[in-house]
Amino acid sequence: TGLRNIPSPPKKPFVGNMLTVDKETPLQSLMQLARELGPIIRLDMMGTPMVVVSGASLVQEICDESRFDKAVRGSLRRVRSAAGDGLFTAYTQENNWTKAHNILLPTFAQRAMAGYLPLMYDIASQLCMKWERLNADDDIDVVHDMTALALDTVGVCGFDYRFNSFYRRDYHPFIDALTRTLETCMVQRGLPFEKMILRKRLDQLKTDVAFMSKLVDDIVRERRRGGGDQAQKDLLNFMLAGVDKTTGESLSDENIRYQIITFLIAGHETTSGLMSFALYFLVNNPDVLEKAYEEVDRVLGTDIGVMPTIAEVNHLTYVQQVLNEALRLWPTAPAIGLYPYRDEVIGGQYKIKKNTFVTLLTLMLHRDPSVWGAEPETFNPDNFSREAEASRPAHAFKPWGNGQRACIGRQFAMQEATLVLGMILQRFQLFDHQRYQLRVKETMSIKPDGFRIRVKARPGRT
Ligand code: HEM
Repeated sequence: TGLRNIPSPPKKPFVGNMLTVDKETPLQSLMQLARELGPIIRLDMMGTPMVVVSGASLVQEICDESRFDKAVRGSLRRVRSAAGDGLFTAYTQENNWTKAHNILLPTFAQRAMAGYLPLMYDIASQLCMKWERLNADDDIDVVHDMTALALDTVGVCGFDYRFNSFYRRDYHPFIDALTRTLETCMVQRGLPFEKMILRKRLDQLKTDVAFMSKLVDDIVRERRRGGGDQAQKDLLNFMLAGVDKTTGESLSDENIRYQIITFLIAGHETTSGLMSFALYFLVNNPDVLEKAYEEVDRVLGTDIGVMPTIAEVNHLTYVQQVLNEALRLWPTAPAIGLYPYRDEVIGGQYKIKKNTFVTLLTLMLHRDPSVWGAEPETFNPDNFSREAEASRPAHAFKPWGNGQRACIGRQFAMQEATLVLGMILQRFQLFDHQRYQLRVKETMSIKPDGFRIRVKARPGRT
């Protein structure tokens, strides 16, 4: 019939391929397997099959939304204990997904972004001010500072709340609760006796979720009562006022809470990872750094006392190419989960049964030589020149996920990252004083573990 078996690594009795995948770095294990076995792999996770797809032509097929849907399973499903039926963790079939999608889409559209710019600038200025006051021999923990920045930005743009991460040594207690919650969702693997072994963690999870819910509920209640800044153009006011045109309904307070927690989850690690990887690539590619400085000096000038306009940020096209190329090599949402509605055959030869968990391994899709050429591991922002983008096949670049379930915060994240990189380049020389060797740490997303730099103010800035 022309059907072929999907290549699989050797299995062990009972656990199948569970041990084939490293506990600390599962995605990097999958990358290795894809390198050895090719664009499609089948794993046996203790009796449950998992198909891993990373070749561009096969990815094109699984991105067909009439055949495949987002899978909310495994750790993502466990995140529902905190984020409920918020956009990220909702099933596509849930009413609240459609309703919230319709209400929230315009609030994240390009047009709405201008309103967030002054708030993003406020937080980015705090980062720059911190860096300006460092001594020449002070190290910057890049991931820490970028996480602080990303969180504070979502807090203030989302619901006018200041985590004030640059005014404290540790993270705000909300963030510790959120980080612990995500860790607990990640470490569970549905193994026997797990509930007993992880009892302490699971108790802590309840405490943490209760704490986060109360903080958010208090903000929502206060705003409903007429407190807070009613004229503030933040996401919360949009959510309180928004009506779904097709049903005439608005979001419940419970769902608004879930959305706020969702924005913090979705906007914190991914955006901070993107900016961290971009800085890593900049200090390692002097030619690229030079070009980026050139563009920033041309577009933003040397006057660091004024806020860049939205037009200026949009004109930092080379900086955006750097960000896109960072997202190509280390997409900070490194994989997405899908499942087929019906029994499927993809690539004309690989059978995938209805409902099978299919992982789109973005990390390896972005290294497919049929799309990116013979040296896909090389960092090269020219991959995102206008011409290169126009000639690339659809679905070859998927850092934002797919179709209707793709990232709603894409413009938000890109605007923030472009502004921040622009402001950093406008002000600072960057030093890779420890000659950092990339080590990728995996949590819900990925980050350059232990990456530190030093900075010095560029001369002639006023
Ligand atoms: C969904 C990536 C920033 C909010 C997604 C998905 C990806 C992604 C791949 C699809 C997930 C899946 O299929 O399971 C990223 C990256 C970011 C980023 C790489 C930064 C560089 C943000 C920000 C926000 C956000 C800043 C909000 C403030 C969301 C939401 C969803 C989502 C709500 C779910 C959308 C839906 O299913 O309706 N993101 N994201 N993201 N993202 Fe982002």
